[in-house]
Amino acid sequence: MEGSKKYIIIDFDSTFTKVEGLDVLAEIALENHPQKEQYLAEIKKLTQMGMEGKISFAESLNKRIQLLHAHKKHFPTLVAILKTKISDSFQRNKTFFELYKENILVVSSGFREFIEPIVTEFGILPQNIFANECVFDDQGNLIGYRPENVLSEDKGKVKLLKSLNLQGDVYVLGDGYTDYEIREAGLANKFYAFTENVERQTVTQKADHIAPSLEEFLYDNKLPMAISYPKNRINVLLLENIHPVAIEYFKQEGYTVEILREALDEDELAKKIKNVSILGIRSKTQVTRKVLENANKLMLIGAYCIGTNQIDLEACLEKGIVVFNAPYSNTRSVVELAIGEMIMLMRKIFDKSQKMHQGVWDKSAEGSFEIRGKKLGIIGYGNIGTQLSVLAESLGLEVYYYDIVEKLALGNAKKCKSLHELLALADIVSLHVDGRPENDNMISYAEFEIMKKGVIFLNLSRGSVVNTEALVQAIRTGKVAGAGVDVFLNEPKTNKDPFVSSLQGLPNVILTPHIGGSTEEAQANIGEFVANKTIQYINKGDTFGSVNFPNLQLPLQKNSHRLIHIHENVAGILAKINQVLAKNGINILGQYLKTNEKIGYVITDIDKEYNKQVIAELRNIPNTVKFRVLF
Ligand code: NAI
Repeated sequence: MEGSKKYIIIDFDSTFTKVEGLDVLAEIALENHPQKEQYLAEIKKLTQMGMEGKISFAESLNKRIQLLHAHKKHFPTLVAILKTKISDSFQRNKTFFELYKENILVVSSGFREFIEPIVTEFGILPQNIFANECVFDDQGNLIGYRPENVLSEDKGKVKLLKSLNLQGDVYVLGDGYTDYEIREAGLANKFYAFTENVERQTVTQKADHIAPSLEEFLYDNKLPMAISYPKNRINVLLLENIHPVAIEYFKQEGYTVEILREALDEDELAKKIKNVSILGIRSKTQVTRKVLENANKLMLIGAYCIGTNQIDLEACLEKGIVVFNAPYSNTRSVVELAIGEMIMLMRKIFDKSQKMHQGVWDKSAEGSFEIRGKKLGIIGYGNIGTQLSVLAESLGLEVYYYDIVEKLALGNAKKCKSLHELLALADIVSLHVDGRPENDNMISYAEFEIMKKGVIFLNLSRGSVVNTEALVQAIRTGKVAGAGVDVFLNEPKTNKDPFVSSLQGLPNVILTPHIGGSTEEAQANIGEFVANKTIQYINKGDTFGSVNFPNLQLPLQKNSHRLIHIHENVAGILAKINQVLAKNGINILGQYLKTNEKIGYVITDIDKEYNKQVIAELRNIPNTVKFRVLF
């Protein structure tokens, strides 16, 4: 704000504070009034009509005061409440108000009696507060306003601004139509519709600029602000019907969110990605190198699913784009299905139910067993395997497990030294290994051979780990008495494609379309998990749990700035960063570095106001991939 003097005109009700002062006063004053609800509704309506320009302001104010039944004694309570209702972005930016108090004018049609105690705490000068003034009777009842004050008149703000005759540029920030009128009258250079608390279409459509927060206003005017970047400028694109819980998180953060139900193809996404900072996908969207070449603002991809094969992770690394997924969020769902299937298979319920549908009553206990006391063999004691272990044990199963990695036994579970040992003792075998190539066909003819006769076999992990023909044979020979299979080597791409498998039509076999993890709860958990990871990365630089980035989990430094530097993993970058900082006399409060084969990730917390020069120098360090400054 150099050059000619600039004035910032700020509205009070619903801008400086989240609420309308008179509405709050009405709540207090009418607390015990028999017609409270009716009056409150009328007051709200009158406020609204005045704000939208549907009735004149004077008319609205007059009518409201009559309904208020307010008294002087109500004002201290009103002020105390309003102090707790300061708009969040105003609260964050107290320093701005202190620094620019000479330039800021609060112009409001509300009453000075409650405005002044609030805004002077922000450093606003009393002579820069323009508002209506209350008139009380001898008993202290609020009976009206001082009519000589132009702000009580229609187009009061316009009249006031005319009389102030400000010499310089004028910027207006407010949520109401009367704020826009200043601009309409040619008395302001720019009107910013402030939408953090309320959004009125009549106002936003007239605005020169929409400011969802004070930071947007400050950013647009190159004024200092509490955070490095207005969050509404962070564009989030969520594809493939991602759970609403994630959308809610992002809206709460103040991001601008666009949601599409379907996936986009490569060309569509390559076009759309240009302005996107955060992309959310599920399994159908292919994020290819071509898409990423267009993704110049993209900081993060959230895969709202388990797998990340649909994303070119290598290309993401080269562009400094971090990728998160949700590897654990559906663990419980898989475990519940496994347990349910064990019971159903041990009782041959599936076949019995099918017969019933065909009119056959086959009541018999033969070949039906409880799961209590049976030996469950879990292959792969990871997230799912361990959780299954705990739940199965509580149902009275005796749990054995085998894992290629040394894993802590939970509860009373017993570790098997070899796969062979496990297969030989288990009454139920449940597979929960990952799909690494070495695991292809890990359960085949030889493995079924070792299993006990009449074993129950479950595969809810990956289709590739079981030789289907070997399983078919084991079922046919009676080695396997029942099987639950949720995953297949060749799964149909869409619900419209047919499903074909040699397991079809076999007795006591439950086939499910890869839905082990597909529950509403899992979807919500995934939404929440990935959204949280995203916010942690954007706000703190945390990469813990990322699929492709070096994992760093970081403490938050108070009173510091955080510099995030992503570079190609070549020697000497850290030294270069520190040279730049040292040269500029900047003190490092904390520094964290982690690398992988491709990139280095450095976080530096510094205690000094940084300037543009330092930022430019850091950005220009050779091999820098991405650089950003946090708070
Ligand atoms: P995880 O990675 O936490 O656990 C896998 C465990 O298997 C690890 O402990 C690993 O050391 C072990 N392992 C790998 N190869 C092995 C081998 N040859 N022998 C013994 N142990 C071996 O994975 P998580 O989250 O528990 O998932 C397990 C499987 O379930 C994965 O294949 C995953 O794709 C699948 N899954 C299926 C779902 C469905 O809808 N049906 C949903 C979620 C996961």
